[in-house]
This record gives sequence, C-alpha cells and structure tokens, in this order.
Amino acid sequence: MNNIYPANSLNIERAIETLQNGELIGLPTETVYGLGGDATRDDVVAKIFATKNRPNFNPLISHVTGLEMASKYGVFDEIALKIAEKFWQGPLTIVVPKNNAGVCDLACAGLETIAIRAPNHPVAQEIISGFGKPIAAPSANVSGSISPTSARDVAAELGDKLGVIIDGGDCIVGLESTVVGVFDGEIHLLRKGFFTAADIEKAIGKRVLTPSLNDENAPKSPGMLLRHYSPKTPMILNAESADEDEVFLAFGKVPTGVKGAFIQLSESQNLTEVAANLYRAMRNADLQNPKTIKVAHIPNVGLGEAINDRLVRAAGTI
Ligand code: TXA
Ligand code: MG
Repeated sequence: MNNIYPANSLNIERAIETLQNGELIGLPTETVYGLGGDATRDDVVAKIFATKNRPNFNPLISHVTGLEMASKYGVFDEIALKIAEKFWQGPLTIVVPKNNAGVCDLACAGLETIAIRAPNHPVAQEIISGFGKPIAAPSANVSGSISPTSARDVAAELGDKLGVIIDGGDCIVGLESTVVGVFDGEIHLLRKGFFTAADIEKAIGKRVLTPSLNDENAPKSPGMLLRHYSPKTPMILNAESADEDEVFLAFGKVPTGVKGAFIQLSESQNLTEVAANLYRAMRNADLQNPKTIKVAHIPNVGLGEAINDRLVRAAGTI
C-alpha cells in the first residue's frame, strides 16, 4: 500500500507535518494503532469521528510524551501522580479533571474530565514530542470493528481515508490500554487492559474500584459499548469443537473435535501472547468467511480478564 510509510526520521517528519496541517495519521503504539490528530482542534477531532463513523459522545484519549506534558492538560492529584509515575510510559490511560489548557471540548466529548496516556512506543513518542501537542487517537478502525495491530490492518480499515500510516511494526501488547479514572480520591477501573486492577493496587497500595455493569451510579467509560471490537462473523466462546465451515481460535492443544481451520492464539498457553495475537486472529478468521468463529476457553485470571472482556464484547454475549 502506498500510504504505509516505514518509521524512519524522514517519514516521522512527514507525520508531524501532516498533523500540523490538521490532517490525520495512522500511528503505532504498543497497544493498538491509533487514528491520530491534533487534540487541540475541534475541526480535526471532528474529522476523527467522521473517519471512524464513531458516535460523537465517545471521548478520546489525548496522547502525551509523559507526565510533564500531561500536567498541562489534566489535574493530577497525589494518587493520579503516583499512578502516572508507576505506569508511564505504558499501556495505561488516566482520566482526571480537565485543565482548560487547550485540548478541545470535542476530544473530551464535552466532559469536565480528560483521558490522558503516555505510550511507550518509541515512534509514538517521537511523533508526539516533535508535534509538541497532545494527539487525540482512538484505535484506527471503523467504529465497532476490530482494533488494528499492524500498519496493514490500519490500511485495511481506513486506508483510502488516510494519507499517512506510519509503520512501527506489530503491536506488542495487542489490546487497548487499561483506563482508570481518579476522582474524589478514589481509583475507578473504567476499562480492563494489560495492567490489571491487582497490578495497580499492588503498585499504589490502594483499592481499585471496579464498577459493576448493573450499578447505575458507578462512573462509566462512555466508550464501553456492549458490543464492540467485533468481527463480522458470529463468535462462540468457550468452544471445544468446530465444524469444517467454522474457524477455531485455539489456546494450546487443538481439541480433536476441531474439524476445520484453526488459528493458534498461544501454543504455550501464554496470556501475553494471546493478547498480542487476539485481534489479528479475529481479523484473519473473519477473512476466511466462516460460518462461525469458535474460541477456546481462555482462563479469566490476570491478563485473561481483559482478553475475556474483549471476547465477550466481540461475541456480543454480555
Ligand atoms: O490503547 C489505547 O488506549 C488506544 C491507543 C491508540 O492509544 N486508544 C484507544 O482509544 O483505545 P479509544 O478511543 O478506542 O478508547 C478510549 C476509551 C474509551 O473507552 C472512552 O470511553 C474512554 O477511553 N474515555 C476517554 N475519555 C474519557 C473520560 N473523560 N471519562 C471516561 N472515559 C473516557
Ligand atoms: Mg476502539
């Protein structure tokens, strides 16, 4: 594809110029690829929503180089500071009260809070620091579809709508960042991700509140639509068999009841490997046009919680 550019210094410069011109880029991060634009400009953020076909009430994450830049745009209390110090740069987003320093209202969907993340991907870091302002970036897929974990995936989702996609290799994490909100001295888990509530509790020494889906009063992440991250093919979870016209996503040994094609999520049953492979596997399974995508049982422990969260949403069984 001629809009995919390898991440050398010339092309990183090209990406920065594209952002300065108010245009969008496909941007690698360690979690998934982002559809990035100037977070301070309403017209640019509107373009992000239009390109993704995303409902406007969904606020976006502002990507920064680190805490120094983040502090200009969000109000970090002691707890939020501690979380940023422990987990940045990395696959964790912190929602804090917004400072009126320039991130546009549309990026925050008119909320008084702002979601901020400092990715640890070196290419993302170079682009943000060269641009010098926060980059609003949702995952670079059409709303409701599977998040892209390679530059090719971005091109497959949005290629004709994007002039510049920077190829920073396959995403190492493969799942969107963990999102926590820090409000009124409490930490709320808003989206499961690479870092678990237990990881955060251990590092910060404070309880992480996990909102129940049934709790009306619990703070929610507006982006947590029930059906999300979906392939076009129906999915069935916790499967132990699959017919010839189905594709099986395996976790270790492939059961004898699997008659057709399978894609291995992790031969050695390593959950980090499953996370990194999951979206690619769903995308590839979808491309084979099977009747159903069957998925092996993935243990719901540690990173398995975030993996199962995405699987349940993809299957629409929540
Ligand atoms: O890993 C990631 O986070 C990727 C990469 C590109 O950085 N980005 C990503 O963005 O997943 P997106 O837009 O698909 O998800 C943003 C999430 C949504 O669940 C949204 O509701 C939540 O962050 N969010 C953003 N601002 C918020 C706010 N002010 N309050 C609560 N949740 C917020
Ligand atoms: Mg997304």
